[in-house]
Amino acid sequence: MSDSIRTIPVRVGPDYEVTIGPGLLRETGPRLSALLGRRRIAVLTDSAVAPLYLDTVTASLEDAGFAVCSRVFPAGEGSKNLSTLSDLLEFLASEHLTRTDCVAALGGGVTGDMAGFAAAVYLRGIRYVQLPTTLLAAVDSSVGGKTAVDLAAGKNLAGAFCQPAAVLCDTDCLTSLPPHVFADGAAEAVKTGVLADPSLFALFEDGTLTADPGAVIARCVAYKAGVVERDEKEQGERRLLNLGHTVGHAIEKCSGYAIPHGHAVAAGLAVIARASEQLGWAEEPIAERIAACLAKNGLPTGTDFPAEALAEAALSDKKRAGGDITLVVPRAIGRCELKKLPVAELLPVIRAGLEA
Ligand code: GLY
Repeated sequence: MSDSIRTIPVRVGPDYEVTIGPGLLRETGPRLSALLGRRRIAVLTDSAVAPLYLDTVTASLEDAGFAVCSRVFPAGEGSKNLSTLSDLLEFLASEHLTRTDCVAALGGGVTGDMAGFAAAVYLRGIRYVQLPTTLLAAVDSSVGGKTAVDLAAGKNLAGAFCQPAAVLCDTDCLTSLPPHVFADGAAEAVKTGVLADPSLFALFEDGTLTADPGAVIARCVAYKAGVVERDEKEQGERRLLNLGHTVGHAIEKCSGYAIPHGHAVAAGLAVIARASEQLGWAEEPIAERIAACLAKNGLPTGTDFPAEALAEAALSDKKRAGGDITLVVPRAIGRCELKKLPVAELLPVIRAGLEA
């Protein structure tokens, strides 16, 4: 079963499919040609991923009749800004890509978010496909059409909702990930378990997830696809996917983006779980269980940044609406709820969640 190809539809008009399995990058050309027809395609990727997979993807696309150009930008969250976006857009223009052409985002979350945003705004929008190469991109960021770059004021503050035409998730890429990069994606999958899937959470608790990562990815994608189908533009239910992200984004910002996204989300998840228990919102003891699960998967369970700095950073985040902020609060493993609070109440919540 572990070698099987799984396909999950995302019915969000126009519908698309997330295909998960081994060897898919070698099949990029025929799979995209069947979907899009032969056309020009710009592969956008970063300096860490290009040496590993760009030649494979380019050869497969060219063999299938695509005219391929590619642009490589420096790896890391520090690249996810307007300056790199501008470079990518100028590149697409210099290659004379037209509205019938296509972008491929080859890489992790930064690449997917930024290449997706470039596709969303170039010529007022051209089609793009996601080729996630990290666990984080596979389980979360490549699906659902959130594209963005960071601004000096905070993470993902400029972006667009723009769904990909397809997601091809090659599980062979996971074998090349350094442990801390794999752990980054585990954080988003543990998040899914806490949101809605206690048995998925249990896989991470006992460390058996690596037996069949394709199955873990498929469960996360299937859950996210359902949420996105019901609430594409994050007016309600989709906000649940931000579990751990209010404090997580604050930690990223306070660290100058030195702490990677998944690690920051893990710490944010541990903080909000502890706060939920301390403040009587949790229905069962969850904080120690969540912290132990995160630690087992090589992830942090807290932060040294003071509550005041985290609250200030969090309040520049998108999750604030006027005088209120919406937090995602875990009540049990597999059940979370949205809680709208006046912004002044964020600081005491974060204080309650920091380890004593
Ligand atoms: N990563 C959260 C979302 O896609 O809504």
